[in-house]
Amino acid sequence: MRIFSGIQPTGAKHLGNYIGAIRNYVATQERGEAFFCIVDLHSITTDYEPEELREATLSLAALLFAAGLDPDRSTVFVQSHVSAHPEAAWLLGSVTSFGELRRMTQFKEKGEQQEFVSAGLFTYPVLQAADILLYQTDLVPIGDDQRQHLELSRNVAERFNSRHGEIFRLPEALIPEVGGRIMDLQEPTKKMSTTGGTPQGTVGVLDPPETIRKKFKTAVTDSGTDVRHAPDDKPGISNLMEILAIVGGQELSAIEARYDGQGYGAFKDEVAEAVVAALDPIRLRYEELRADTAELDRLLALGAGKAREASAPTLERMYERMGFVRP
Ligand code: AMP
Ligand code: TRP
Repeated sequence: MRIFSGIQPTGAKHLGNYIGAIRNYVATQERGEAFFCIVDLHSITTDYEPEELREATLSLAALLFAAGLDPDRSTVFVQSHVSAHPEAAWLLGSVTSFGELRRMTQFKEKGEQQEFVSAGLFTYPVLQAADILLYQTDLVPIGDDQRQHLELSRNVAERFNSRHGEIFRLPEALIPEVGGRIMDLQEPTKKMSTTGGTPQGTVGVLDPPETIRKKFKTAVTDSGTDVRHAPDDKPGISNLMEILAIVGGQELSAIEARYDGQGYGAFKDEVAEAVVAALDPIRLRYEELRADTAELDRLLALGAGKAREASAPTLERMYERMGFVRP
């Protein structure tokens, strides 16, 4: 089975990225041949600083390895190292409609936050479809906010297949039922995000323990005192419960039963400690890896080689079926 996912080297990666995506990369790498792509070409679609992009790319690579991606088992690579991605995106642009891109909620939301709305922000999902389809992907581990982009990738694949003959496998999304959408700790009706959330309500994967504890202590809770999972009525508590369920490996019902009649204080402390216990080893491994730039370069060169080899046959077939004269 082929597994593929992508993650942007922008902003500090947060607990939502960890729970909704990175943890599941680590889990799925056991289930087949897995590719994890640091999508630097996607990150230039909104305002950015070139120097920061370079640092963020290496930092994210170190973070992915620190979180448990195994370079002997999985292919971890940087998108711009594999030119098949932008080439395939251009080709797929011919089977993607203006209308379907215009309906993308991420485009609408991010477009509103920008003074300059780039053409790249609009065509972003075509590049994402190329990323996925080039690897004949079966399974795409992602958070809930990527559901619509995955659906578009499937539609683009189907349209290409019916116009030019069956080339692409249709990918399935793998979205966690609990934890697919972690909310901001200060404004629990908004998803946790470095661009759209609050700084105090966003827990960084690399935050030191004291910062993490402080953010959970000041997390907004709901009126009432019962620890109950009811996302519409009690978004703050439900979010904290989902976090504990995932990082502490507990059922939501077991958490409810254990805190029955006890109020919020001890519960919030337990969530904070479970998050510290999950993230602290990652931060320590990250610091070691980040210091060894030569080793990171080596691992990324290895990944790029494997990704080029795996994607080349599909790109070649696309060109041939579409009627291009090949050199
Ligand atoms: P990004 O940092 O935007 O490239 O997102 C990387 C991955 O994290 C994607 O699979 C997203 O769906 C996932 N993700 C981002 N924010 C959240 C969140 N608040 N909760 C759960 N998953 C998230
Ligand atoms: N658009 C995704 C995000 O913002 C990142 C991404 C790019 C991706 N290419 C991908 C995710 C391919 C899964 C598969 O999070």
